[in-house]
Amino acid sequence: MRYRVEGFNIRSENAARSTSQPGRAVVEWLSGHPPVESALDLGCGKLRYGRELITIANRVTFVDSESQLSRTQQIFGQKTSVRSYVSDAWASASVVTIDAYWQSPARFDLVLFANVLSAIPDEWMRRKLMKSIRGHLTSDGECLIATQYRNSYFRRARERVNAVPYLDGWIIPMGGGWASFYGILGPRELATLTEASGLRVVRSWTKGETACAVVSPVRTR
Ligand SMILES: C[S@@+](CC[C@H](N)C(=O)[O-])C[C@H]1O[C@@H](n2cnc3c(N)ncnc32)[C@H](O)[C@@H]1O
Repeated sequence: MRYRVEGFNIRSENAARSTSQPGRAVVEWLSGHPPVESALDLGCGKLRYGRELITIANRVTFVDSESQLSRTQQIFGQKTSVRSYVSDAWASASVVTIDAYWQSPARFDLVLFANVLSAIPDEWMRRKLMKSIRGHLTSDGECLIATQYRNSYFRRARERVNAVPYLDGWIIPMGGGWASFYGILGPRELATLTEASGLRVVRSWTKGETACAVVSPVRTR
């Protein structure tokens, strides 16, 4: 997904990390999760957590922008696309574009929303995605949100270049009008976004540079 901010073009799909660099906090939480019928990986990137999700859920849906899903890239050591990898490797999984997701009535027992908020330099889009999680969870479903709470890689980059403070993070110019963005969201920011989205925080913690919150729908009588 591309964002135009402060005169820069930000290609958020480039923020997705390699499948060889899964985050420990997310892997630990997923590894301890009981089996579920259905799971959604919202902003799935390069399928970093695909293997864990396939182990937990009978059906997994991977959602991202068309450009992220269709471009050729390195996934689990193969040169392929997210769409091709999923259809070749995982019969119980499907790939859905973010545009189709907005229209979809499907509900999931488990939603993974990993490192997406920190890659989005747009508060409106962050809130829209958070609210959509409420609408796509089963009544007793839960979502793990993970965000960048600190970022040592970008901190070093920020010191080298003319980084532009923006929102809760930084725009790092890459040349030719292109830039990358990262936002820093900790447990407090996650709680605020969660409460504004008809969700409640069940548990939150930080591990290394990652903030995590398990959230579930607010029950209405
Ligand atoms: C930092 S990557 C994280 C990818 C993956 N969740 C992971 O942890 O490896 C952020 C992802 O969010 C996706 N993204 C950004 N804005 C989005 C939006 N509005 N809707 C859906 N996906 C979006 C990007 O394309 C990118 O794949």
